[in-house]
Amino acid sequence: MPFIMDAWYVAAWPREVSGETPLARTICGEPMVLFRDEAGDAVALEDRCCHREMPLSKGWMEQGTVRCGYHGLRFDGTGKCVEIPGQPNIPPRARVRSYPVVEQHGWIWVWPGVAERADPADIPEMFAPNDHPDWSSSGGTTYVRCNYLLISDNLLDLTHENYIHRTSLGNQAVVEHPITVEGGDDWVKVQRLIPDHEPAPFWKAALMNAKGAADDVRCDRWQVIHYRPPANLALEVGVAPAGTGGLDGDRSQGVEGRNLNVITPETEKTCWYFWALARNFSREPEMDQPFADRVAQIFEEDRAAVEAVQVVMDRNPGRPVIDINADGGHIRARRIVDRLVAAQDRTAQAAE
Ligand code: FES
Ligand SMILES: [Fe+2]
Repeated sequence: MPFIMDAWYVAAWPREVSGETPLARTICGEPMVLFRDEAGDAVALEDRCCHREMPLSKGWMEQGTVRCGYHGLRFDGTGKCVEIPGQPNIPPRARVRSYPVVEQHGWIWVWPGVAERADPADIPEMFAPNDHPDWSSSGGTTYVRCNYLLISDNLLDLTHENYIHRTSLGNQAVVEHPITVEGGDDWVKVQRLIPDHEPAPFWKAALMNAKGAADDVRCDRWQVIHYRPPANLALEVGVAPAGTGGLDGDRSQGVEGRNLNVITPETEKTCWYFWALARNFSREPEMDQPFADRVAQIFEEDRAAVEAVQVVMDRNPGRPVIDINADGGHIRARRIVDRLVAAQDRTAQAAE
């Protein structure tokens, strides 16, 4: 299945891209090299020297430009060759492709498609808590050997918490309460409200530590999943002591998280899973790492599961599966992706 090329994808965390070392990263099958130019802005170029095809990421940085490690051609952040050793004239064709880049919501986004169609306003606003003063956020990257949509499927159906994450987020109440699914041309929203129950271990600890709740506290819990294509998912999650209004819009007595996820395809069967947990409780900076570690541990369980699924799928590609009620969210999301890929194919054919 081809990728949706005209879309923003997270390529890296800002801390990964520097003016000192070029970073190689493949996005939607396109090998790129990322670095910071002299102004400190992140840039992305095709990872291929236009002279004899050496990957530019094997070279090194010089004052905001990258020097090819083979014969020393030097390129600026726009992809233009600015130096050919031993030769004063630089032909205009001496340039490499550059990709649109935007640093926003605590991530570096790239657009692998047609540059003229890249509009930074299309980066989903739902990721704002990743670097917003009202939230504390920490996260990481998980490299996963599966098609990127398997992770999107996983996040759109949280009944898996009760099985894959049975020691952390799992709770029978999750399975017992049905979801509601809504959607439009380019969005899906899946909601599950779970009133008055004994909280899952992660949430019980959060409520006790942040709000001094008693050990036998009962909770109202909410899970609202917001999906935007290709694989952008923001999960509003949290709990409040039962009956304090958490399910009716007053979450002030509770603890809230925003689980922010962008899954960026590398190849058809590998992807970069960028995730963060933004929280409005226990906001001490020294809590950032413990929360990131906890979430990383939980996502390891997902990684193991979806990689195992990919192995079985590869054994018999296209073999039929059955659907159940809980699949409503990701079935809608997959339809959106299919439609966008088909539209892209039509545009490509029309251009031929
Ligand atoms: S291959 Fe890059 S300078 Fe020759
Ligand atoms: Fe999970």
